[in-house]
Amino acid sequence: MEALALERKAEQNRELKERIAQLKKERNAIILAHYYQRDEIQEVADFRGDSFLLAQKAASTDADVIVFCGVHFMGESAKILAPNKTVLIPDERAGCPMADMVNVDGLRALKKKHPNAKVVAYINTSADVKSETDICCTSANAIKVIEAVDSDEIIWVPDKNLGDYVSKFTDKKMIIWEGYCNTHDMLTVKDVEEMKAQYPNAQFVVHPECRPEVVKMGDFVGSTTAIIKYCRESDCQEFIVGTEDGTGYQLRLDSPNKKFHFATKYLVCPNMKVNNLKKVVKCLETNGPQIYVPPHVADKARASLERMLQVK
Ligand code: 13P
Ligand code: SF4
Repeated sequence: MEALALERKAEQNRELKERIAQLKKERNAIILAHYYQRDEIQEVADFRGDSFLLAQKAASTDADVIVFCGVHFMGESAKILAPNKTVLIPDERAGCPMADMVNVDGLRALKKKHPNAKVVAYINTSADVKSETDICCTSANAIKVIEAVDSDEIIWVPDKNLGDYVSKFTDKKMIIWEGYCNTHDMLTVKDVEEMKAQYPNAQFVVHPECRPEVVKMGDFVGSTTAIIKYCRESDCQEFIVGTEDGTGYQLRLDSPNKKFHFATKYLVCPNMKVNNLKKVVKCLETNGPQIYVPPHVADKARASLERMLQVK
């Protein structure tokens, strides 16, 4: 962008941020943003986090309105955990292709085939699917959740890559669904090898939604929050990052003198990027789009989410 256009954009963003601050006060609203959101969204967020931290925050906030900047299933989880609050999402098109890879009918059929298994659902699932599960988990607590479940047989939905990773830490029988994250699954061994050759002093930190052979190459494997913490606390000064590029905002904030190389230019989740400041203003002004989950679905899904929040 040329200098004048950049200046205009910065001025526009300043105005939008002022308007957001005013609307937040008027509505007693809180803005929650996933680490994969655009920088401009993370800048106005009251709270930034990964899926787990955001679910926890939604459950505990005393704001009247939650503006959820992430993808649809995250907004749904917030509404399920805080049913009396208004949950707004800036753009209804922000879905998660992985969450769409499992549906209720398919899950019911699998449960019939394995009647003794307990269902552990990655939080990246719809409210309908959650209502058919025993307990949810995120990438931050998946191993602990599996161990906490009172069964030696687990149906795991929907991420086969995270399922593969988790299965290495348990003796339980895992029946793994064939879903995956379109974004993380793009990263190949060749991409990482090339980056390692280019940055020989860098450590490779990777999210377990990546393919197993890529995860195997990691100097550190963890959820988005775990990756951020590891990079902040490590003595290493340079990292190749195997997760979505929005994470760069928090990484650079925490460790401004360290270098972060994103493993490929493809590690951008287009769904996470549909939100922008204009849409945040609009949803607060118009009170929509709002998340709605039918009560009979929400009650069952809440039990599954709350069981997760209780796992220590
Ligand atoms: P976490 O937020 O648990 O790191 O999961 C990553 C992700 O892909 C969210 O959609
Ligand atoms: Fe879904 Fe992957 Fe995007 Fe997360 S990064 S919202 S799992 S598609």
